[in-house]
Amino acid sequence: CGIMGYIGQQHTQEILTNGLKKLEYRGYDSVGVAIHDGEAVQVTKAEGRLDNLASRLEDAPLQGSIGIGHTRWATHGRPSDENSHPHTDSEETEFAVVHNGIIENYIELKQELVAEGATFTSETDSEVIAHLLTKLYDGDVVSTIQKVVEKLDGAYALGVVSRHTPGKLYAVRQASPLIIGSGNGENFISSDIPAVLEHTRDVYILEDGEMAVLTEESISLMDVRTGNSISRDLFRVDWDMEQAEKNGFDHFMLKEIFEQPKALEKTMAGRVDKETNEVDFPELAWTEEQVAKWDKVHIVACGTAYHAGLLGKAAIEELTRTPVDVEVASEFRYRNPIVNENTLVIAVSQSGETADTLAALRQSKELGAKTLSITNVVGSSISREADDVILTLAGPEIAVASTKAYTTQVLSFYLLGIYLAQKKKQITPEQNAQYMAALQEVPEQMEEILFHNDEIKEYGESIKDAKSVFFLGRGIDTAVALEGSLKLKEISYIHSEAYAAGELKHGTLALIEEGTPIISLLTQEKLYDKMLGNIKEVSARGANVLGVTMRGNVKVTQYVDETCFIPETYSLFTPLLSVLPLQLISYYTSLALGNDVDKPRNLAKSVTVE
Ligand code: G6P
Repeated sequence: CGIMGYIGQQHTQEILTNGLKKLEYRGYDSVGVAIHDGEAVQVTKAEGRLDNLASRLEDAPLQGSIGIGHTRWATHGRPSDENSHPHTDSEETEFAVVHNGIIENYIELKQELVAEGATFTSETDSEVIAHLLTKLYDGDVVSTIQKVVEKLDGAYALGVVSRHTPGKLYAVRQASPLIIGSGNGENFISSDIPAVLEHTRDVYILEDGEMAVLTEESISLMDVRTGNSISRDLFRVDWDMEQAEKNGFDHFMLKEIFEQPKALEKTMAGRVDKETNEVDFPELAWTEEQVAKWDKVHIVACGTAYHAGLLGKAAIEELTRTPVDVEVASEFRYRNPIVNENTLVIAVSQSGETADTLAALRQSKELGAKTLSITNVVGSSISREADDVILTLAGPEIAVASTKAYTTQVLSFYLLGIYLAQKKKQITPEQNAQYMAALQEVPEQMEEILFHNDEIKEYGESIKDAKSVFFLGRGIDTAVALEGSLKLKEISYIHSEAYAAGELKHGTLALIEEGTPIISLLTQEKLYDKMLGNIKEVSARGANVLGVTMRGNVKVTQYVDETCFIPETYSLFTPLLSVLPLQLISYYTSLALGNDVDKPRNLAKSVTVE
């Protein structure tokens, strides 16, 4: 989602729509603006692209010198005019609000407000904020916002205009980015620097728990809880537009790799019951009887999503002992698959539009299966057509090589496995608590790996002239090896293969020669010794071996040429960590080769043809 806000004497409507245009790259499905004309706040919004909004504004232009605008990427509630932002309290619009993030306790807040007589017009979590502002309004907008914020749990970046204050614009940040642009006789708010860059290069970056009050001539920053004012130096942006869209990263892929800790946190939030620490998918609400009926699970997907599916199989089988098949969708659809009303079919797709996956989903429905999709795009075909949807909250993924979508898919499978095990009473509360504690630690452990990315960079550069690179693993490490290998070939164009290490001697070993890079994964304790045996086989043929293993496993350093250590976690969850060095290796190899990292040759982000 994107936020843009303006206060000043230029053409507000145009500044808002132009700013939102700059945020289009983040992906969106609906858009809207609210402008204060001195008397009242007028709102115009539209499902779909900015052009739809522009034509509505052309028919009925909005005048005024204060406004907020928003591009929405649906999370709670499908894309529609009603669910678009800005949200308001009533037709008279005392307050209009744009919101990025998720209000975790919105259901309770909404119930309370409805009981008191509020009428809601959307299915969003964000609308509660507008109603709360009206309810708690005490004659002073700043103190009203403070009271509202007290009631909100979750992540939010807010832009607020109020009918009561025709000369002020308000912004609040909590765990969702927001910046304030400082101009000459005009000021701006935005979720992202690119939207303001054509007007000013001087910005304040709001921190969590901070609020800003803007007039045409001033910007005051304060701690939203205490009301104490904050003084801060302006930050001068010296990037160009394209760099700014990438938030300071050289490529979308690198930005998205670094976004993974946050993406995981978001995907987990709202799916874990804070009191019992049990997994809860409010969007599924499956009964124990229903779950007990499925004697088989079938996962269908393509590319990276298929690799996430392989880990889905490992998780569901391990946690529930239900047999799981995983198949690439293009094969599934042309077989005569054994799928019936006792099967749960899970279609995994970042875009939610991949033609083969969609076809496999439709076929499964025809065969009477219960269908679930795991997708990153609300309102996409696959999410609409499946009986149920688990949304990965990775945010828009722009780079063709998928990174944060993959790890959020894998996490969704872990949560789903635990959820099914709970329903089938196959997990004790202690086990449950241990798993959840481990998963909640993963984002921070990811940060640790990303922090040490210099060594990985060197390794990535060192293999740039290789003819072939091999990835080896055993058990679930084999699935991660497949993903690492796909990443590398997608963007570096180096031939690469992934192998179950025990299978190597049945053919692939013939390809190993002096200096061949081998990336071996050793995260499964019970398979360490077997892996070391395989590493000896390739080393004896002159291979150069990198071992990716758990911190503390020093034994492995005697057998490999280089080691990359990752933090410890449950053996089932290691892929969330071990894939990070592999993503980074492929990125840095591609970079060293001078390739177009974000848009590799011959490939498309979303494959909507067979
Ligand atoms: C394309 C992309 C891959 C992606 C695959 C599946 O081939 O290049 O990165 O994994 O499609 O896409 P989906 O949107 O269904 O996850």
